[in-house]
Amino acid sequence: MTHAFKNCSNLMVTGASRGLGLQIVESLVIGGFSPGKIIATARNPDGAKELQMLAEKHQNIHIIKLDVTCQESIERAASEVEQLVQEEGLNCLINNAGINVVANLETVTADKMLENFHTNSVAPLMITKAMLPLLKQAAAKGTGMGMGIHRAAVINMTSLLGSIELYWGDRSNTFKWYPYRTSKSALNMVTRCLAVDLEAEGILCMALHPGWVRTDMGGPEVFTWQKDMIFFAVLGLSFREIQLSFSEELEYSILGISVILFLIALCLLIWQIYRRCTQCPVSRRPDGLSARSGGFQYATQTNDAKMEVHYEELSHRLSPGTSCTNLGSSLDLASMADLEEENIQGSLRFSLFYDQLQSKLVVTVLDAQDLAVRDFSHSVDPFVWVRLLWAEREDEEHSSMQCVLDEWQTRLVKKSCSPVFGDQFSCTLAEEEVPRVTVRFEVRDFDKYSRHGILGEARAPLNSLKLSYPLELREDLQVPKKDMVGEALLSLKYMPISQRLEVGVLKIRTVCHPNKTERALYAKTSVICNHCKLRHQRTKQKKHWEVTVFNEVLTFVLPDQQIRECTIIVSVYEIQPSKKSSKCLIGHIHIKKGKTFENEHWKLMMQSLRQPIAKWHLIFI
Ligand SMILES: NC(=O)c1ccc[n+]([C@@H]2O[C@H](COP(=O)([O-])OP(=O)(O)OC[C@H]3O[C@@H](n4cnc5c(N)ncnc54)[C@H](OP(=O)(O)O)[C@@H]3O)[C@@H](O)[C@H]2O)c1
Repeated sequence: MTHAFKNCSNLMVTGASRGLGLQIVESLVIGGFSPGKIIATARNPDGAKELQMLAEKHQNIHIIKLDVTCQESIERAASEVEQLVQEEGLNCLINNAGINVVANLETVTADKMLENFHTNSVAPLMITKAMLPLLKQAAAKGTGMGMGIHRAAVINMTSLLGSIELYWGDRSNTFKWYPYRTSKSALNMVTRCLAVDLEAEGILCMALHPGWVRTDMGGPEVFTWQKDMIFFAVLGLSFREIQLSFSEELEYSILGISVILFLIALCLLIWQIYRRCTQCPVSRRPDGLSARSGGFQYATQTNDAKMEVHYEELSHRLSPGTSCTNLGSSLDLASMADLEEENIQGSLRFSLFYDQLQSKLVVTVLDAQDLAVRDFSHSVDPFVWVRLLWAEREDEEHSSMQCVLDEWQTRLVKKSCSPVFGDQFSCTLAEEEVPRVTVRFEVRDFDKYSRHGILGEARAPLNSLKLSYPLELREDLQVPKKDMVGEALLSLKYMPISQRLEVGVLKIRTVCHPNKTERALYAKTSVICNHCKLRHQRTKQKKHWEVTVFNEVLTFVLPDQQIRECTIIVSVYEIQPSKKSSKCLIGHIHIKKGKTFENEHWKLMMQSLRQPIAKWHLIFI
């Protein structure tokens, strides 16, 4: 790693009397490529015995007196450094001197804050300013591409404790040191400002966290000094912008290995493409992979053959009310798979009648026959969930989005595979709206923990029925299908270091039935791992428009283990703000990450860590 210093003529370290500063100097002189001159500063050089001893052994160490909080001392040091480096300039300035004034909310005072701030944030800036002519000189003289210590660099010793992003979740109860933490946050911003201002001069400015190391400041509990090379390790591994110069043999070996790996990857890719072309010739959707609906652009589906097969299977399962071309990546594949295993049998008898005088649709659930008994229980406690689905447009071929106009549940009949219900429900409905309605009957097996099993469903699209007289029908139960009731623009962002997942609920588009005025929407986001709900958060209520804008970000702390296998469920609810307990579920979006399956949106998020990725998802009920 010391190769990094091959082209570095002069380097200066502040606070080199002990701790990390002293170790940096020692590591540099014993490294394979020691800088031409190492300028080690100490506020009291006479007291810095170890540094003195080191300087006696190594001629290229020059000790200079510098109190970083004293402007006069900084200026004096700058002229001494100038004399030492002369026209070569200064290649690397390491602002290492620092103090830790420990004070929590109770003990902190303005003086303590200012003292820490002066040493840790203000001093590095003032020292950089004073050394700027020498840094510019070195940057101008330096050869080679890019920025780094082969030209000029300013390295500010910061600390993870200054990171605001990391002061969340489990970590937020540690090290409540107001002066130190804020001074390092300020130092980070000083560094960023310097980086912006000095980029044009070719001077690299960066903040470096050295790790937690055993010094007077770090304390005795930390792991032992990696005496020889801790600084180089940090430099070599973390300073991506510092150019490392390798020997020519090594460079050619790396290049050779890279070319071989690239060729292997290329062959594998060609082989995969060949296999796909020969094995899955008809799995593609006829309309290509992206679709537009209602002015919203859907992101492209994955090309993965397995997903395509899933797509084909799933498209059969969507109700006629759901446009297959609109199928996004948000289908709940798991729950669909579960349903496939269900043993669907039996029939449901119901009657429908449209009372023209009262403009009412009357639905009567009469009875069911030969219902399946679920594997683990020896009986079944059935009830029927009736939903009136109202389509946005009356379009037989490609139907539009729907909304639930009304919903009811029949009574529960205990321990019966052929229950008699006799429950009647009615709903006020204009006659011209009747053809837009589909009645969906879901026969369910009651579970006291609300995980009611699905025994099958029957549907009655009213556009094909004459309802001027009560019409009695018996329908065989079918595998339940999901209905598309809206779409939502969601953004996902994952920050691996802080292990935070941000779910942005940006916009929700649903159907607004003209009868349903003064409604509000909100979305509840839950994160589920291994069938357990870990956390949930909800957005604020917003007035329900055709497109309701939320622009809210909900944050979840998700440790590594959980991020590998979890499902995000966004549930959209409608409420009537004036009425208590008027909550009504509109539908769900499932974004799933399993061991073998990964939702497209999830994949994009993991490919672009720390960046929010937005994507439209269909909402199903
Ligand atoms: N140790 C860790 O685990 C750790 C972790 C993250 C970041 N850091 C950062 O790394 C840097 C070095 O830390 P360390 O652990 O080596 O600390 P340290 O053992 O306490 O040493 C601090 C050094 O800074 C010098 N210094 C303090 N105030 C000064 C002033 N006004 N003028 C000139 N020199 C001054 C000290 O000189 P005197 O001998 O004259 O006091 C000493 O040489 C600090 O910026 C610290 O925030 C350390």
